[in-house]
Amino acid sequence: MHTQPDQYGVIGHPVAHSWSPFIHGLFARQTGQTLAYRLFDVAPADFRGRVLDFFTHGGRGLNVTLPHKVAAAELANELTARADRAGAVNTLAIRPGNELLGDNTDGAGLVRDLRDNLGVTIVDRRLLMIGAGGAARGVLAPLLELSPEEIVVGNRTPERARQLAGDFEDMGRVSGRGFGDLRGETFDVVINATSASLTGEVPQIDSSVIGPETVCYDMAYGRGQTPFVRWAVERGCARAVQGWGMLVEQAAETFALWRGVRPDTAPVLQVLASGGPGKP
Ligand code: ATR
Repeated sequence: MHTQPDQYGVIGHPVAHSWSPFIHGLFARQTGQTLAYRLFDVAPADFRGRVLDFFTHGGRGLNVTLPHKVAAAELANELTARADRAGAVNTLAIRPGNELLGDNTDGAGLVRDLRDNLGVTIVDRRLLMIGAGGAARGVLAPLLELSPEEIVVGNRTPERARQLAGDFEDMGRVSGRGFGDLRGETFDVVINATSASLTGEVPQIDSSVIGPETVCYDMAYGRGQTPFVRWAVERGCARAVQGWGMLVEQAAETFALWRGVRPDTAPVLQVLASGGPGKP
């Protein structure tokens, strides 16, 4: 008898350029799992209805991307501790009793890439997180759990940085500042969590934040160098990496939640690094 494969997908707006179908397709092949993974381009007004419809019709799990991550947290019946802390959900899974579980694998994905793939030391180091939006909020807790000496959140709008830092100060030394208050300081690790790359821009921060030992990580990714990576390299950082690894690692964490099997990320990263199916 022919049975339909388990249904998964990514819901966002826009979503056409998502790499998730490709990555989850490779994970499925590698682990011998049979599943279907589709793209759902859904405007915010239709988000709730479309998600409920998907799961009512037997869907097993959804990745959630911009601009729906906060709405997904509100929709889920239950949140993992890390999704609750982030206030945002990038993974929905159906649970027995038709309960919708919301998880957030972004922070774990970043930590796996930074610490495990790239061998970057976080413990006792000074980190600068640029940006204070949803992307920054999603990764602060897992970074603080690695016991850095300090995390400074630097944001174009200083008040937002201070507010975000305040929400996490129970977890370690974290403070918020405007870009002007970063002048003259150098950090061990600088992470770009702004959405500036979407418009081809680089946050206007002082070059002093980058020294010869500084590792820079751009949570954005693209063909060739991202604007932030180019900017960091020009200022003489030790190393600048864009976020392909975080993308693949968060997907692996999600796949493990959905399927109970952890895929090996190395071969998938290799495919992307070597140009993927025509990209990056
Ligand atoms: P996301 O969910 O991607 O984090 P967001 O919540 O809209 O999106 O937040 C976007 C972040 O990128 C903010 O920190 C924003 O700075 P402001 O709070 O000052 O708006 C930052 N950002 C966007 N474009 C930027 C630019 N050109 N330069 C510097 N920061 C920028």
